[in-house]
Amino acid sequence: MSALIELAGVRKTYRSGSVEFEALRGVDAAIETGEYVAVIGPSGSGKSTLMNLLGCLDVPTEGHYLLAGEDTAELDEAALAVIRNRRIGFVFQQFHLLPSMSAWRNVELPLVYAGIPRAERRERAVAALTRVGLAERVDHRPGELSGGQQQRVAVARALVTEPDLLLADEPTGNLDSTSTRDVLGLFDELHAAGRTIVLITHEPDVAARAQRNLVIDDGLITVDRPTAAAGAPA
Ligand SMILES: Nc1ncnc2c1ncn2[C@@H]1O[C@H](COP(=O)(O)OP(=O)(O)O)[C@@H](O)[C@H]1O
Ligand SMILES: [Mg+2]
Repeated sequence: MSALIELAGVRKTYRSGSVEFEALRGVDAAIETGEYVAVIGPSGSGKSTLMNLLGCLDVPTEGHYLLAGEDTAELDEAALAVIRNRRIGFVFQQFHLLPSMSAWRNVELPLVYAGIPRAERRERAVAALTRVGLAERVDHRPGELSGGQQQRVAVARALVTEPDLLLADEPTGNLDSTSTRDVLGLFDELHAAGRTIVLITHEPDVAARAQRNLVIDDGLITVDRPTAAAGAPA
């Protein structure tokens, strides 16, 4: 049995000219299928660097990252792009929706890249939007939706390919308290339905919603502990 995510001795060094900076300094961690894990740490601690590695947007300088048992170091850029499209759903702080396209057009985009036929794309996009509570908003553009609704569109886009892993970097960082509650409630539902979620945050009350917290400080995971939510019914 292997975990969905295994990190072993992962280091990431950024180089600009002659200056080197080691943003991750030897990270070991394992995340099982179906877990809801929050990575928490202060600004500059290496959270986004870790998210980029987990999302196959970047590769470790040293060490190994195994996703579903596959060592990502052995994959070329084309193979990493396929993994990003098929296995991973991304949610970002700034939503990253295309403003001129309706909600369902935004949500179908990963299916366009995956080569899914048009009629099936529309059906799956509408189903994903229904799942996040936006069945009545499929034809709205991002500018016609609240921040919380826009982030739910982004979650629908992340889920439409049925990825193994949902990765969210500060997903509530731009939301008011009502929309934050809304989006975190959606994550609870997705977790209860068996989805694997890695959520990155600097906010303790957001991290407390996950089942397990990895505390990252200065490029190292310093604490790996279950939260109070781990014992609560999902
Ligand atoms: N492309 C880069 N080049 C050089 N340094 C970087 C780069 N990206 C991030 N860093 C540095 O790495 C450290 C960790 O950054 P980051 O992973 O973005 O932290 P966090 O998301 O926790 O705020 C910071 O000190 C940041 O300045
Ligand atoms: Mg960050």
